[in-house]
Amino acid sequence: MRNSLISTGIDESTAPLLEYAESVAALHRAAGKTGDNAPGFFIQTFGCQQNEADSEKLAGLCVLMGYARVARPEEADLILVNTCAIREHAEKKALSIIGQYKHLKDANPSVVIGVGGCMVTQELRVSKLKNSYPYVSFTFDTGAMQYVPKLVYNALSGGKRSFILTEEWNLNEGLPSLPESPHSAWLSIMYGCNNFCSYCIVPYVRGRERSRPVQAVIEEARQLIANGAKDITLLGQNVNSYDGGTDIAGLMRRICALEGDFRLRFMTSHPKDASDRLIEAMAEEEKIVKHFHLPVQSGSDRILKAMNRRYTFDSYMDRIRKLRETVPDVSVTSDIIVGFPGETEEDFEATLRVMREADYDMVYSFIYSPRNGTPAARMEGQVPREVSSERMSRLLSLEAEISDRRNSRFEGRTLRVLADGISKNDPDMLTGKGDPVRPIHFKADPSVIGRFVNVKIKKTSTFSFEGEKEE
Ligand code: SAH
Ligand code: SF4
Ligand code: F3S
Repeated sequence: MRNSLISTGIDESTAPLLEYAESVAALHRAAGKTGDNAPGFFIQTFGCQQNEADSEKLAGLCVLMGYARVARPEEADLILVNTCAIREHAEKKALSIIGQYKHLKDANPSVVIGVGGCMVTQELRVSKLKNSYPYVSFTFDTGAMQYVPKLVYNALSGGKRSFILTEEWNLNEGLPSLPESPHSAWLSIMYGCNNFCSYCIVPYVRGRERSRPVQAVIEEARQLIANGAKDITLLGQNVNSYDGGTDIAGLMRRICALEGDFRLRFMTSHPKDASDRLIEAMAEEEKIVKHFHLPVQSGSDRILKAMNRRYTFDSYMDRIRKLRETVPDVSVTSDIIVGFPGETEEDFEATLRVMREADYDMVYSFIYSPRNGTPAARMEGQVPREVSSERMSRLLSLEAEISDRRNSRFEGRTLRVLADGISKNDPDMLTGKGDPVRPIHFKADPSVIGRFVNVKIKKTSTFSFEGEKEE
């Protein structure tokens, strides 16, 4: 199925900026670059699902500007890098890729390279790109995607390089979106974060919480479903605080009421406000996937306090109990930070304890990375790398033990699986989504891609399942 552009709400202030997209397209037409000869765009995305959703909007803008997607940066006339700043490693990776693009610019000076996202929503990084990466034509912060056509236009018409830091914390309404996959869709329902966990850069690079109006979200869901979406994930840094005319539970119930055979997920929830209403909606609505991602970060009350998480081991476990009582067989996943400043062996053991008691299907674990400008970066007791790494390896072996056992409960069961695509490891197999967490590999004709099929699970391992398609 061919993907079509999805329109995302209306914003009158965005409309004049989108006229630059037409001006860029006109430049391409004047140069005879249309149809099969259209110039290529390539977007490199780092970071979380929110960034992937933003990249779909950047792709939508590229299409409006007359570009066509290409598979490799070498074939592109416009390269956009959508960066992440969550840990030092994420920034290093982005800078290294941008560094590698220099030779593309040397080989073809007409290539336009732009950098956006969370990394370049920090002044220091913007000046670094401006001063040390002369082949980068422009940067744009996370509130400035609507300026991209203007920035591209300026670059193509010989204008100066631009490095904008608008911090216009808008809703990105009115930007067209080109979904990567027609059947698995991201749907941003809110942006920003008010929580200021002491280690986290997100509130600084994504601004304060703001929710899209219910009607705009429902209209977008309707379009996605009409476009073939079978698996929709509602996105926000803290979706429990959604407040666009109803709460997240109300919003999900209204989306579930839309016609069509689809499933609904949501990410990410903050434990301090994972409400009973949301848990009940998950239990009652068949279309909501029985998966709750509820990041705990640490099991130690002392560390949770220093992290400014605003819950305790006990109040967190209370949410987990409520969830398990209300939603039978629910899968629960978490994020954990190892080596937060001041973390002692005893604190770390409390984290292992929360892992055992919460009985997670999967944990995303990270070694603490100090972020410039956050309170934790200035705290005493930064944990040496060797100590964090040793703790991390103990955490990973406990995680494998717990998730192997949790995964094995699916052996012999038949799951309804959305066939997502050809497996990356074996061209004779397809990969699908069924169990809320793990990819499922099975043999089937590629014609079923984008459809639900029943798969009997034969074997489970830590990271994936294998099964047989039932007729
Ligand atoms: N809004 C989401 C997650 C955002 S970032 C939430 O609150 O759950 C995803 C994960 O990255 C976080 O849950 C946290 O575990 C991790 N993370 C954030 N800042 C970090 C840092 N400075 N060092 C290491 N991990 C970090
Ligand atoms: Fe970061 Fe905390 Fe906000 Fe999540 S809730 S994005 S960890 S500040
Ligand atoms: Fe990274 Fe920004 Fe997401 S910092 S994790 S891309 S919100």
